[in-house]
Amino acid sequence: MARIFSGIQPTGIAHLGNYLGAIQNWAALQEGNESIYCLVDLHAITVWQEPDALRAQTRTNAALLIACGIDPVHSILFHQSAVHAHARLAWIFNCVARFGWLGRMTQFKDKAGKDRENVSTGLFVYPNLMAADILTYHATEVPVGEDQSQHLELANDIAQKFNHDYGIAFFPTITPRIIGTTARIMSLRDGTKKMSKSDASDQSRINLTDDADTIAQKIRRAKTDPEPLPESAENLDGRPEARNLVGIYAALADARVADVLRDHGGQGFGTFKERLTELIVAKITPIGAEAARLAADPGTIERILQDGAARAAAIAEPIVREAERIVGLLPAR
Ligand code: TYM
Repeated sequence: MARIFSGIQPTGIAHLGNYLGAIQNWAALQEGNESIYCLVDLHAITVWQEPDALRAQTRTNAALLIACGIDPVHSILFHQSAVHAHARLAWIFNCVARFGWLGRMTQFKDKAGKDRENVSTGLFVYPNLMAADILTYHATEVPVGEDQSQHLELANDIAQKFNHDYGIAFFPTITPRIIGTTARIMSLRDGTKKMSKSDASDQSRINLTDDADTIAQKIRRAKTDPEPLPESAENLDGRPEARNLVGIYAALADARVADVLRDHGGQGFGTFKERLTELIVAKITPIGAEAARLAADPGTIERILQDGAARAAAIAEPIVREAERIVGLLPAR
């Protein structure tokens, strides 16, 4: 039995990329493991959020995770800000991680762009908080999409430097759990960009709350090229949009890309998109409906998260107190 930790930012609404790249794996890994899943609201505010919208989206995304099969009785499901141990350990990690390491993070470089003078300092130290999220539980397995792998390498560097600096094997090594085939679902408008909550165009993603008509319309408008679908996977090279749609199809049909192309190769995108829409609608709309039912009772969602936070804190508190002792801080009462 392993201790699993993962998190999702409650900005916007979880989408098909989050589902295929991470959440479906979170659900599967519950069986036989101790699983801790977190809505990382402190990470969300590294970029300004409208406060009421952030609260509402934290509840909505919690409802979506439950609707995706995260069982809040078996797993621990909570919001990050409610367990203070994360921020305390993140501070210690701010003092362990090196400035140069953080400057090399590609996600920081992408998000900060050219205007580095004007991004929050929270955005710069974002990966330190992420390392703290995981290590405050001594979690060892972290199911994520491919875009998080650099951050997890950094978390291991931080853990190793802490252990080395204080001469104690205190933090374990983290193993990323990345599902190769769905680790990077791309935008529906541009097959070279990942599907993202922060893309300005809602047409670029399928939100887990989208209804059947919206899904059909987004897939109909999804960018493709003029060629028919190829008969073999090698011929998807240089065709990022086709590769993405076929990959989504394969993931939802639980089939191999080669099998999908055997069945659909030679077809134009019209018929293929209709079949793809059916698959997405069948998977996503029940999740949206269940989440809407749960979200109609915001008090219950908040209580679930608060109960989760109390259970999370019971694990985190002794570990972070020990980290504080190791670095030389006097005990709190
Ligand atoms: P976030 O909120 O961007 O995404 C949540 C999870 O979804 C995966 N993901 C994708 N997978 C495939 N294709 C995509 N287009 C796609 N977009 C997102 C992400 O890889 C992630 O697994 N920094 C994290 C949240 C976090 C965290 C943590 C994760 C904070 N602390 C500790 C693991 C452990 C993030 O912004 O994820």
